[in-house]
Amino acid sequence: MTLLENPLRKTALALATAAAASMTFSVQAAEVEVLHWWTSGGEARAANVLKELMEAEGYGWEDFAVAGGGGETAMTVLKSRAMSGNPPSAAQIKGPEIQEWGELGLLGELDEVAGAEGWDELLPPTVADVMRHNGSYVAVPVNVHRVNWLWANPQVLEAAGVEMPTTLDELFAAGEAIREAGFIPLAHGGQAWQDATVFESVLLASGGTEFYQQAMVELDPEALGSERMIEALETFKRLRELMDADMSGRDWNIATSMVIEGSAGMQLMGDWAKGEFTAAGLTAGEEYLCAAAPGTQDAFTFNIDSLAMFRVEGEEREAQQALARLVLEPTFQEAFNLAKGSIPARPDLDMNGFDACAQQSMDDFQRTAEEGGLVPSMAHGMAVRADVQGAIFDVVTNYFNSRDMAAEEAARRMVNAAQAAL
Ligand code: GAL
Repeated sequence: MTLLENPLRKTALALATAAAASMTFSVQAAEVEVLHWWTSGGEARAANVLKELMEAEGYGWEDFAVAGGGGETAMTVLKSRAMSGNPPSAAQIKGPEIQEWGELGLLGELDEVAGAEGWDELLPPTVADVMRHNGSYVAVPVNVHRVNWLWANPQVLEAAGVEMPTTLDELFAAGEAIREAGFIPLAHGGQAWQDATVFESVLLASGGTEFYQQAMVELDPEALGSERMIEALETFKRLRELMDADMSGRDWNIATSMVIEGSAGMQLMGDWAKGEFTAAGLTAGEEYLCAAAPGTQDAFTFNIDSLAMFRVEGEEREAQQALARLVLEPTFQEAFNLAKGSIPARPDLDMNGFDACAQQSMDDFQRTAEEGGLVPSMAHGMAVRADVQGAIFDVVTNYFNSRDMAAEEAARRMVNAAQAAL
């Protein structure tokens, strides 16, 4: 491959050219204010790609970053800003929540950009559908994250004499060996969304994709209260044995840094964790390992980040439309996703410049889309409305942290949580 054929090189060139072009603008045309929660090392590097591309076109960027993994705090802040009649130009809003904001009449449409750029042909129909409200595009997808991943430090695995686990039984066995070798087996942060992230991977492994779909997407009360659910809850709780005593309240990226530094062996987390390994300068497959969460090789829990556009006027709208256009252009899709750990939202890009984990993610995404196994992540707002998700989070985290709640009781509460919300 020549240097110019290398997509990484092309991206770097495009960014450099764009940065040079920006210097010729002395007055900024207009500004976008963008709400997001990309504040960890890898996430901030990714968000910066968009800021630089906007500035290169002569637009201003007002960063509205609200820290807090999973975005719960960001959504609370967004609601109060929107209620006071002063929403940002764009905000990271995902999945079914886009429809909820659309129903409030607060989102602006992007049909002109979408038409000019051919989004209908560019995006897989399942992705495009989520981005439209009442037939008009109101949001633009930035990426596809996979949630069901296991990350590991190969030196820790080697010191413990274990391989990357491929089943839940192997995970527990490897965890024991890692502890005996003097390390924390599984790095975790005790926050509701992280508990839910681990829970859904365990549910997928122990119940299978069809069961996951029935329970977490269709909210079928029979599945939610079933023996299979009880078993999954019990296995999930056993994972506590592999975690450390200081996990309470810990941010997810701090947990990832424990794997990077080698005080912990493994972490179950979506591939935004890869952004941290990348930011630390580590090479996939050599200095850190990735594999589908044990027992979920045939499944892919997807989490599509997207920017929804608020109804704004004049120059701000012009800048907002430019933002929407840039997001789906190859330059952004490559540079952003390399930093973020995800794969591009458009399937037509060359993946050669991406690492082995991203290439596996793209292959598995396409394979599971064809063969079945591609399911929306409940923990990351893709499967159910925000109120139902919140109710499920409560059950999962209360059960995980309770000394005496039985799995049967948690399953009963799960049925009630889903019913109350229907
Ligand atoms: C997810 C989001 C990702 C990443 C992660 C941790 O919900 O989709 O982009 O930011 O939370 O904050």
